[in-house]
Amino acid sequence: MTLVFETIPHPRPLDAGSRSAALENPGFGKHFTDHMVTIRWNSEAGWHDARVEARRPFEIDPAASVLHYAQEIFEGMKAYRGADGRILLFRPEENARRFNLSAERMAMPQLPEDIFLEAVKRLVDVDRDWVPGNGGSLYLRPFMFSDEAFLGVRPASSYVFCVIASPAGAYFRNGDDAIRLWVTPDYTRAAPGGTGAAKCGGNYAGSLLAQRQAIARECDQVLFLDAVEGRWVEELGGMNIFFVFDDGRLITPPLRGTILPGITRDSIMTIARERGLTVSEAPVSFDQWQADAASGSLTEAFACGTAAVIAGIGSVLSPGGQFAVGDGKTGPVTTALRDELTALQRGDRPDRHGWVQACS
Ligand SMILES: Cc1ncc(COP(=O)(O)O)c(C=O)c1O
Repeated sequence: MTLVFETIPHPRPLDAGSRSAALENPGFGKHFTDHMVTIRWNSEAGWHDARVEARRPFEIDPAASVLHYAQEIFEGMKAYRGADGRILLFRPEENARRFNLSAERMAMPQLPEDIFLEAVKRLVDVDRDWVPGNGGSLYLRPFMFSDEAFLGVRPASSYVFCVIASPAGAYFRNGDDAIRLWVTPDYTRAAPGGTGAAKCGGNYAGSLLAQRQAIARECDQVLFLDAVEGRWVEELGGMNIFFVFDDGRLITPPLRGTILPGITRDSIMTIARERGLTVSEAPVSFDQWQADAASGSLTEAFACGTAAVIAGIGSVLSPGGQFAVGDGKTGPVTTALRDELTALQRGDRPDRHGWVQACS
């Protein structure tokens, strides 16, 4: 499908001095680039009105169905500035594919993958001066929501697709900082047949109370157990999880519809196999995790996702008490996988897998 993008440059982009100041210490999700891409869909015209334009607020009807029934999905991906100055995307076609899986689950229209990719690349291109160097990245947020003004409960007949971008600093200021998890006894993230495998806003809304309770306990992230037995480790509020054993095994919970199929997770499985680890997708119970950490056979655990890449898990708090993983620090296997993945993402290693795409 071809779609003509109209480009209307920002009449007053942020001046270079203020942009440099924002890029110096961007944090995460605080600053936004000058432009956005929008494409509209309705049941009569399909995808139309593709624009690259100044980032601005939407005008939205108070009856727009997203405000009531939460038909909304999103993606998270990053653009990196390679050592040779090229701007690189990491496996963006996987984000395009997952976006459509989320769209299908939420009864939203499919966006052809080439249009998703073109929209992302056009935004990176027009805002290329916003891609930080020095280990930073430009976080890209493609999303889609229903904007039909109608209060009946059914899939909407019109939608907006949009991409915005936000510079992100190096996530790991101190590579040895391992995170602390809170295992919520009260809340689940996703049930069989639910929306756990989709990247829809509602999943995150439902996780925020548990995340707030994690922060109140001085933990970094909440860990969810399965909704049926309350036994099996699923994932964190915004990251997948891996376990490292002293005999070279690496285990991550299987994708059974309740876990987001992370692109970082998938990449790590490939890299780890190449490094000689025995990788499997298998259920891990919380009790077993605790027992294996106590016996020492489980040496490391880490969380992974686009935003944080790979974060070692140092300790785990639950109503039953607290336990440490390994020596409580980010371990050597975690560090090696993180170094290799970030080098691949930045184009510092040969792209053996065809994972990296130059933007322009
Ligand atoms: C719930 C959840 N799980 C896992 C992930 C990791 O996915 P990815 O590696 O594709 O960023 C994310 C982040 O997007 C997430 O929000």
